[in-house]
Amino acid sequence: MACFWISGKGPLKGKVTVNGSKNAVLPIMAASLLTDGSCMLEDVPGLEDVHVMCELLEHFGCMLRRKNKSLHINNNRVRPAPAPYDLVRKMRASFLVMGPMLTRFGRVKISLPGGCAIGTRPIDLHLKGLAAMGADITLGHGYIEARAEKLTGGMVYLDFPSVGATENIMMAASLADGLTTIENAAEEPEVIDLANFINSMGGHVRGAGTDTVRIEGVKELKGCSHTIIPDRIEAGTFMVAAAITGGDITLANVICEHLRPVEAKLRETGVMIDRTEEGLRVHGSGCRPVNLKTLPHPGFPTDMQAPMMALMCTLPGISMITETVFENRFMHVSELKRLGARITIEGRSAIVEGVGRLQGAEVKATDLRAGAALILAGLAADGVTRVMDIHHIERGYEGIEEKLRSLGAEIERRPCLGHEKAGWSLKA
Ligand code: UD1
Repeated sequence: MACFWISGKGPLKGKVTVNGSKNAVLPIMAASLLTDGSCMLEDVPGLEDVHVMCELLEHFGCMLRRKNKSLHINNNRVRPAPAPYDLVRKMRASFLVMGPMLTRFGRVKISLPGGCAIGTRPIDLHLKGLAAMGADITLGHGYIEARAEKLTGGMVYLDFPSVGATENIMMAASLADGLTTIENAAEEPEVIDLANFINSMGGHVRGAGTDTVRIEGVKELKGCSHTIIPDRIEAGTFMVAAAITGGDITLANVICEHLRPVEAKLRETGVMIDRTEEGLRVHGSGCRPVNLKTLPHPGFPTDMQAPMMALMCTLPGISMITETVFENRFMHVSELKRLGARITIEGRSAIVEGVGRLQGAEVKATDLRAGAALILAGLAADGVTRVMDIHHIERGYEGIEEKLRSLGAEIERRPCLGHEKAGWSLKA
């Protein structure tokens, strides 16, 4: 067990390179199961969630070779095997193997994902889509089993533009007979990256990035090489790090289009953002409160809600956040309050009264983005902040402490002994 010790010091300054996207690489790794060939993925981040997906692929017989940021996946020995609870409960995205395994082998058995910190997160839309393509789905003893000798194209309307359901259905449809149309599909950049990957394998996906995706099934898919898009949420987190410390950070390896909702909100607070030859430069501090509502892309991303809340805690005036994507995504509020934040929750909204500087304290990360928010808050707090349960943060941010240190932050990763009271100083 480890924790982060952060000492809130002045503005962060410098340049940081953003990693490949966690939410793009996970479905793409799952999609590699669609071929018996070899796939080469570039710019794969070194994250705990990626390790879990590697374990799951190996469980099916994939042979993986990792070198720096490249991942080579050889799938010629893949066989259907039940995906056990032990692996699936570690990471909900494990469920993304369902579509590719079913369409390639005609059957798949996978443990139900179980609960998670940010809500119940059902999988009904994934199953509805697979059923519309002719899958016979049964549930028993904590496992879902789906069978279909050959999936056939169908029409799927998603009641909510779920990212995971869009991806699972897209993968399943790519080897089905005929045309599948997904209506009210998720439009996230990661869905587009997956479509590009499937098309590089010889698939036929059209319309990804709009609300209607059409997939013409093909007989087989071949191996290919693909570079993962940059992580817009990691980029957004560093944009907030610049804003909350009144710093000057340039982000390399970003796709500015993907960051538009975050950029717009930061500008509203008064932060300055320039697109330069070196990357996206974020500088100055916010001086105005903002209101925001999380929405499916191209709306404000729910994954940036907690980091933005940390910033709002320091802005003068009253800001308001309404969370519409997940029903239980305010777990960080009680931890931010330990740092001196003034926040009231009313239903799906959080009303944040800015307090200027926060105060260092011991806090715990309850989920990935909540953890990121606490690091950001610690950077803007007087004294030392100790963030515990950082395994949540390491699921989605590779070497965040090193990157922040390179920008001038005082942050250390230390073992969590539980009785470090005496060492309440970074210099100890
Ligand atoms: C993905 C991202 C996650 C991000 C989320 C929303 C990955 C690995 N994770 O998660 O970081 O926060 O998109 O942008 O890409 N829902 C249903 N039924 C379903 C599926 C979803 O009701 O079958 C609901 C969920 O409970 C939630 C909403 O739809 O309220 C959005 O979920 P979804 O878009 O599916 O999120 P994930 O794909 O799990």
